[in-house]
Amino acid sequence: MTRSIRLVGVSKTKNGNKILDNVTLTIPSGEFFALLGPSGCGKTTLLRLIAGLESVDAGKIYLGEVDITHMPVHKRKINIVFQNYALFPHLDVYDNIAYSLSITGMHEDEIDRRVFKLLKAFHLDKLVDKKPSELSGGQQQRVAIARAIINEPEVLLLDEPLAALDYKLREKMLIELIELQDKLLTTFVYVTHDQFEALTVADHMCIMDPEGGIAQFGTPKQIYEFPDSTFVAKFVGNTNLFHGRLGKKGDATLFHASDLGTFTVECTPQKLELIESDNAIMSIRPEKIFISKKSVENFSNTLKGIVNSIVYTGRSTLYEVLLKNGKKIQVFEQNEEHFPQVNIDYDDEVFLSWQKENVVMLKE
Ligand SMILES: Nc1ncnc2c1ncn2[C@@H]1O[C@H](COP(=O)(O)OP(=O)(O)O)[C@@H](O)[C@H]1O
Ligand SMILES: [Mg+2]
Repeated sequence: MTRSIRLVGVSKTKNGNKILDNVTLTIPSGEFFALLGPSGCGKTTLLRLIAGLESVDAGKIYLGEVDITHMPVHKRKINIVFQNYALFPHLDVYDNIAYSLSITGMHEDEIDRRVFKLLKAFHLDKLVDKKPSELSGGQQQRVAIARAIINEPEVLLLDEPLAALDYKLREKMLIELIELQDKLLTTFVYVTHDQFEALTVADHMCIMDPEGGIAQFGTPKQIYEFPDSTFVAKFVGNTNLFHGRLGKKGDATLFHASDLGTFTVECTPQKLELIESDNAIMSIRPEKIFISKKSVENFSNTLKGIVNSIVYTGRSTLYEVLLKNGKKIQVFEQNEEHFPQVNIDYDDEVFLSWQKENVVMLKE
């Protein structure tokens, strides 16, 4: 069985610092959920409250319909994998994984069966009698996760579980975690400050702001393509922000960026109402902009600029283009060909073009 986790108006203060401020959030049951936010915004604190390792100052926590706000840790079927794994150093791999079953008095044969099933699934079966200190980071991580799922929790909380691993291994472990969650259908709550990890694993995710509140909840695609605020637009991915004035002309919505001209944009009526017309921000992601040496037709908007820097990263190239008002714009291009037909060089004059439906309008 899996149930959703619901936080209602949860606040937490430590040593006079408000760490979580009136957090209301539903983590859907059976999902891979990611909690993304900058370091120090209160992610670990939020997990510890859900696990019952710390208590709330205000608010309620529900597992399904059950109020677990004051339920002791061992009664919640919620396990946590800590950032530093926190394995028992004196126990071998087998005993680390078996621990939570052995204290229940379960029959040894049954423990054996369950532990070996996980050892196999996690490719740890050759390491049964190793101590944590004899394992690599990736192996310790697998033991920590195996230990946390052996007693079949309803919810698994993972606090930056891959932070200590190198890039390649992290990518591999992310895929393993996604497959594991698919198989178990246990609710996973995955905490990270790494946007790539969150976007990769999450069915739904939420962004925490530096003040310990919730900035936005949604699917990775909703968050990335339709950020609600400049904070989310900047924190998840890169973006170019323009300040200006928003207005209607007939059916068209226009954005006037004071010293750059007027652009056509798209904006829902609800949003148009929300944004103060004199203090609007247009956000356009680097990959939504097309860069070319000749002007091209069929784009809603075009700007001219001078190439200021070029960073080749293999699969893509990042251009920084200087506009006439001194603003710098970032543009990503996929490197689709070994030898592109037209090479773009430093100091070249270029055209930057984008479609109106690819911008996001935000409040100041
Ligand atoms: N015991 C404590 N006393 C006072 N402040 C704390 C304590 N533990 C954490 N903090 C502060 O709470 C904030 C949130 O911490 P944490 O939940 O660990 O954030 P995150 O996991 O997002 O990096 C940080 O600013 C941290 O310095
Ligand atoms: Mg943390």
